[in-house]
Amino acid sequence: KLIDFSTLDGYVPFILRGVYVTLLFTLVSASLGFIWGTILSLFKLSSIKPLRWFSTFYTSVFRGTPLLLQLVLIYYATPQIFHYDIPALMAAGLAFGLNSAAYLSETIRGGIMAVDRGQREAAMALGIPYRTMMISIIFPQAVKTILPALVNECVSLIKESSLVSVIGVSELLRRASFVQAANYRAFEPLILAGVIYYVLVLILTSLARLLERRLRRSD
Ligand code: ARG
Repeated sequence: KLIDFSTLDGYVPFILRGVYVTLLFTLVSASLGFIWGTILSLFKLSSIKPLRWFSTFYTSVFRGTPLLLQLVLIYYATPQIFHYDIPALMAAGLAFGLNSAAYLSETIRGGIMAVDRGQREAAMALGIPYRTMMISIIFPQAVKTILPALVNECVSLIKESSLVSVIGVSELLRRASFVQAANYRAFEPLILAGVIYYVLVLILTSLARLLERRLRRSD
């Protein structure tokens, strides 16, 4: 038969386990990217020149070279340079987190700059310290404005996570390729993987829409 999804019989649980790996990996790299990206954005807005230089340079390098290259470089060069056999999943989380931080630092910087300056002036007039002002006044408003961009970043991460199959992490795409090799049939496992990625993205975007609606109601 030309197309026969029953060839996937018995393999579906194997492929579905890849969803767990994909989601875990996305969560780890998104968190790392967000925290490091936030720090980098504060560097960019800082009055200390070397911090600004560093973060600008960082973004230009991580945005200016392919993510796939960063991934294989971290995975294969770490044992050579640091004599440490880095686990594939750790190399992957690191590469994606560092890469995502470069993009997010720009997004977050934009969000912070978009907060009305009256907010900052009022906080300063009230004698609120810089840290408290940033954490409880400026940052929450910034995150709210950049929420759509943050969702975009998570969508990217979910899909780009398929790259980590090249260093042997058994996520969704790699598992689908295994099944392809076992059955000599490409169409069915790859379409299944595609549908699963699509559903994951749909779930994420609907959750984000709910969250956004809720935040708007609180205005
Ligand atoms: N595939 C592109 C690259 O190799 C896109 C990376 C996108 N990363 C991101 N965190 N938005 O660089």
